[in-house]
Amino acid sequence: MWAGLPSRTELTTLRHLGSGEGNTSVNNVLRERHTASGDDAGGLERRDLPDAAAHAVHDTAEEIAATIESMPRSSARRFSTLTDPELIELVEAGCARLPHEVATAVRPPATACGAAVVSRIPVTDAELGPTPRDWRAAARRTPRSAAFRHELAMLLLARCAGQPFGWLGQQDGRLVNTIVPAPGHEDEQSGAGSTTLLAPHTEDAFHPARAHLLLLGCLRNPDRVATTISSVREVRLSPVADRRLRTRVLPILPDVSYGNDFHRQPCPPVATVGPAGTLRYDPAYTPLDDGDAEFRSAYTELGAELERVCRTAILRPGQLLLLDNDVVVHGRVPFTPRYDGTDRWLLRVNIALPQRNRDPAERSETGYGQRTVTPFAHTPRPTPPSYR
Ligand SMILES: [Fe+2]
Repeated sequence: MWAGLPSRTELTTLRHLGSGEGNTSVNNVLRERHTASGDDAGGLERRDLPDAAAHAVHDTAEEIAATIESMPRSSARRFSTLTDPELIELVEAGCARLPHEVATAVRPPATACGAAVVSRIPVTDAELGPTPRDWRAAARRTPRSAAFRHELAMLLLARCAGQPFGWLGQQDGRLVNTIVPAPGHEDEQSGAGSTTLLAPHTEDAFHPARAHLLLLGCLRNPDRVATTISSVREVRLSPVADRRLRTRVLPILPDVSYGNDFHRQPCPPVATVGPAGTLRYDPAYTPLDDGDAEFRSAYTELGAELERVCRTAILRPGQLLLLDNDVVVHGRVPFTPRYDGTDRWLLRVNIALPQRNRDPAERSETGYGQRTVTPFAHTPRPTPPSYR
């Protein structure tokens, strides 16, 4: 147990009130510099999916949806999480039929900024229907709906990139998460928030099995809400700060989408910067006030550097943002939710890369009891046929 650790609710409240010095400076500067209308995405890797490849993804998703619809017991509930074994088989087979340009487009970002925007996924706003009010409402879509087809398309794309997975404790273990502003969660440091800046963070930084890649797909973004992106590869730290951030000083707790009581569990301290220069950062869920002055100073220096190198990307419908979660932290600028069925609507998929190893020191961490859902982990990735 970490002595004196506040509850996660208290922790988040403290950050909102500005008590965490590292996070506060980042929040304030970001709030001032990055309004919902600003796009500062220079340097991001840009990839266009060729028309034939984009339509192959769309058509394959449509075929899988039609197959599911024709199945007995094809209820919305059965396919809610997209983990049904028959569906997984269909996705595996569909992925193997896709042209190789798809896998090429979703390969891990290779540049210093650690992020890529992939464009030209077909999205027709008129067929989407209203933006769901929260992820539970989104889970009630039927296999006949356009939203379901888009989730399948995301799963196909993610499977071409690696092994998509979910979290048992988050959105009921769904492989494709829904990110929409939800009433009552406006100030929350999670994907359901809106009016508060979502502080830059490593996705699921608290867990040793966090994603290597994060795939965000845009279905709707009428108010041009920007996603923030900062890469540790572009950060310059003083030798003192770099050394301090490589030591294990403070824990990172699960975010509010997993629940609220984790401060009662063992909270092992983690290294902010890993041996290979990777980053594990989530100031909104790190009890910075418990760190010593030297660590807090180093954390503040890192926060300022992440702000200095920050880019913003305004995703349009049909665009994907592919992030290397080992080197990039992401966030979102504040915005005013509409709650009229036309709100910003993203889909998110966590992706593991089995060929990538992390710091062996993380292996002893229990991840606060959170378990992954990994239906693709036991099958080799299908080899796409040559493009004809
Ligand atoms: Fe996130």
